Parts: sequence; C-alpha cells; structure tokens
Amino acid sequence: MALLAKAPKGTHDILPSEVRKWQYVEDTAMDLAEIYGFQEIRTPNFEDINLFVRSVGDTSDVVQKEMYEFEDKGGRHLALKPEGTAGAVRACLENGLLNETLPVRVCYNGRNYRYERPQSGRYREFNQFGVEMFGSAEPSADAEIIDLMNSILEHLQIDEYHLEINSIGCPQCRKAYHKALEEYYAAHKNELCKTCLDRLEKNPMRLLDCKEENCQKLAENAPKTLDYLCDECKSHFEKLQKYLDAMNIKYAVNPKIVRGLDYYTKTVFEFVCDKIGAQGTICGGGRYDGLVEQLGGKPTPAIGFAIGLERLIMLMESCNAEFPAPPECEIYIAAMGEKALDTAILLTHDLRKRTFFAQTDTVGRSVKAQMKYADKIGAKYTLVLGDEEIEKGSAILKNMATGETSEISIGQDFVDDFYDTLVRDEERDHRFGHDDDDDECDCGYCHHEH
Ligand code: HAM
Repeated sequence: MALLAKAPKGTHDILPSEVRKWQYVEDTAMDLAEIYGFQEIRTPNFEDINLFVRSVGDTSDVVQKEMYEFEDKGGRHLALKPEGTAGAVRACLENGLLNETLPVRVCYNGRNYRYERPQSGRYREFNQFGVEMFGSAEPSADAEIIDLMNSILEHLQIDEYHLEINSIGCPQCRKAYHKALEEYYAAHKNELCKTCLDRLEKNPMRLLDCKEENCQKLAENAPKTLDYLCDECKSHFEKLQKYLDAMNIKYAVNPKIVRGLDYYTKTVFEFVCDKIGAQGTICGGGRYDGLVEQLGGKPTPAIGFAIGLERLIMLMESCNAEFPAPPECEIYIAAMGEKALDTAILLTHDLRKRTFFAQTDTVGRSVKAQMKYADKIGAKYTLVLGDEEIEKGSAILKNMATGETSEISIGQDFVDDFYDTLVRDEERDHRFGHDDDDDECDCGYCHHEH
C-alpha cells in the first residue's frame, strides 16, 4: 500500500539517529544558560493572534506573510507561534514574574512556525533555543547576553562564525531616522514592491528587510540608523563595544542589520556563518525596551536572542564537530527455549533496575540469530542461557571485544557479579590503553603497574 501521507512541506522529522545531536546541543545551551542565571519557561505553541500582531508588528513579513493563523472551534483567532519572545513576555506578565526581583531571566527551547519558502536551513516548522532578560537597561546586560551566545558556540566547538552588531536607536532617535528614510524612498517609490509602498507610510524601517530583490537593492544605499542615534543610544552602543572588547569577543559593526521584527530598540545583533549557504544567520537578537509596556506591563527594558537549532546543527555537521556517542548495550542475554527465556527476561529486568543497558530476545529469534543481533547492536557482553545453564545455575559470559569468557552465577548475585566483571574489564582496558607519560591522570593505574 502506498504511504498514507508525506510530512507537510517545510517540516522535517528528527530521526532517532539524529536526536542525540539535538539533545546534546539543547542540553549544552540550557546548561550554559543556567549558569548565566536563566531558568526555563515553557509557553503554548499557539497564542492569540493579536499578541504577535502587536509585538512582531503588523508591517513585518512574519505577520503579513508568514503566520499560520486559524480560528478554533470556539471562534478564537489564534496563530502558531512564529517566534518565542512574544509568548515569553506574555507569560511573564500574566504570571506576575516581572513583579519579582529584577532582572528576570528566562530561556526556552521550542518549535516555531513561519510560512516561508522552504530551502536549505529554512523551514516552516523549526526549532529555536532562546533567552530573554527583563529589567536591565544597562549595556552590560547586552554584553552578558552576547557573551552567553558566544559561550554556547565555544562549548560546541564551533569557530566558523562571526558576530555582527548594530544599534537601531530608541523611539527618540527613530523619528529623525524615519524622516530620512521617507525622504530617501520618496525618490524611488515606483521601484518598490506593493507591500513596501504601504510600509513606507506605516513603518519605513521595514523596507530595509524586504525580501524582494528590487527593494533589497534600494536598501543598500538607504540611510543608516547609526548616523541618527541620540547621545544616550550612542553611548550605550559604545559601552557595549567596550565590554565586548574586554571580554575578547570579536565582532563587526554592521549598520545594515535592522532585524525583521518590530519590537527591537538600540542593540541588535546576529551570529552569521558562511558555511551553510544562503540561510547563514544562526542566531538573532537584540534589545526590546518598549515591548513589555506595549503588551500591558510596566515599562521594563529587555534583551534576548534566539538560535535556529536546524542551522546550528547543520553548521556543526559541516565543521565535523564531535557529538557524544550513543550509549552502548552492555549485555545481551540470549535464550534457548521457554524456560531459559523466562530467566533471561527476569535477569534483564534486574539489570535494568540497576541501570545497566541490557537486552534480551523479544521477537522469537533462534539463538544463532540472537547472537547475530547482539553483534549488530554492539553488545559488550553476551550470556547464552539454555536448559543446561538453568539447571546448573550458571552460564558463560563472553566479552565480545576480547572473546574472553568466564563462568557467572545466574542466581541472586548475578547483577553484582556482572557489575564487578564490567568494572574490572573497563579498568583493565583503561590501564592498557593508558599513556605512561600522562601525569594528570589519577585512575590509580598510571605510573605504576603498567
Ligand atoms: P529571528 O531572527 O526571527 O529572531 O530568528 C532567530 C533565529 O531563528 C534565526 O537567526 C534563524 O537561525 C532561526 N530561524 C528563523 N526563521 C527560520 C526558519 N524559517 N527556518 C529555520 N530557522 C529559522 C527571533 O525569532 C527573535 N524572537 C529572537 C529574539 C529573542 N530577539 C530577542 N529575543
């Protein structure tokens, strides 16, 4: 029969062979965020559509063209979340988190949805790890956030990226900047796409990140925010650079970064790499000092970033980064006959209770096929049980790497004895594989008895 359905366009499955990579990257990011003081928050995958319209902005591509919006059976107008910041702000406000001691730091790892044209590194359903920090207006917070992202990349041993920063000013300096943009674009009105013509009136900054080719060309020579910053924004940006220099974090000022979401103020930044094709931005973020108030809270400055995990993992793969190996099966118990299988099932159960990775037959294979299977899954030890072994109360344990065998009781002491064998053999492997000159090792075997 033909397959019932294919995964929807722009989505992708993460298969068991890949999931470990994801867990490793997610755990690394989450563990590091924790030591910077962030705590995980989980918010719904869909929200009232107005949350995104009011935060991401009704003139942004994300809201105008890319949102998965729908009406539920109760007539509510909802949208699948296109990004994580709006939901995090909503949740912090609704649950009173921002009334607690500031700064409040939250992080998240979740799926997002944007109806974009799929291509390598660009999906309609994608995963982001993000952080948001509320309550600090200081440039040191910007530096801290950028330092965290840098540190995640360092821990994942990625060095093929660069950091680009910019300041897009505050509402104060935005006025003069908008005026300059309007004047610049007034001379090019007939070259703009229809959406941008409309944006020119409502929010001229959005013309700068339009994906249409003509509009992109025009954006090249458009006035730059940096030339219109007020003194406060200028000083904020300078201090940030001072902190980054002190932290030895390399960056370039790129006056063209404006980001595609409306809520940003002052600092914006992107981590970009050239190794994974056109969609090279692995992380984007910035300050959004007005959003909390805009969504009904007290004025609360904030800053954050989100990493696109698909792109990050693509980059790691293209750099041949190392991922931790999957756990190895420690013992496979092969069984010949029903009685032996009863014992094998119990022994496997006992082993697992003590957290050993143990397997036995569940599909009725012959002993020969079971041994082949044990070999295929890379079991470190095998134990073969038949009527004779059950009668005797002991069986032969085989170390699959060395071929060595030893007799082991299959009674009450089995798990303890297996543990002793495993530890002994692993220590011995370590001893033989050990470097005589390694002064640092304290395994107990070095410098003696080699
Ligand atoms: P963003 O730049 O829209 O920012 O997305 C952040 C990252 O998500 C991008 O740099 C990219 O790696 C990844 N990404 C975005 N769209 C796609 C897609 N269609 N397919 C695959 N990956 C994608 C935000 O979302 C902000 N909420 C970040 C932020 C947090 N700013 C402040 N706090």
